Amino acid sequence: MYICLCRGITDKDLLELKKKMSKKQIYKNLELGSSCGSCIGKALNILENPTHQKKDPSPKS
Ligand code: FES
Repeated sequence: MYICLCRGITDKDLLELKKKMSKKQIYKNLELGSSCGSCIGKALNILENPTHQKKDPSPKS
């Protein structure tokens, strides 16, 4: 899933980099949010909660 459409960065890219560097380094190296800025919150959510993909997307009845 794309997190930053402006720079073509996916959630997998973020999770892979998280193994090697700090959040601050990731933001700086990928220049997250440097264009429109709409990805900053999404990226932070993924970096702080890597289990986000395991949530059940089906609606509750
Ligand atoms: S979506 Fe990341 S800077 Fe625009």
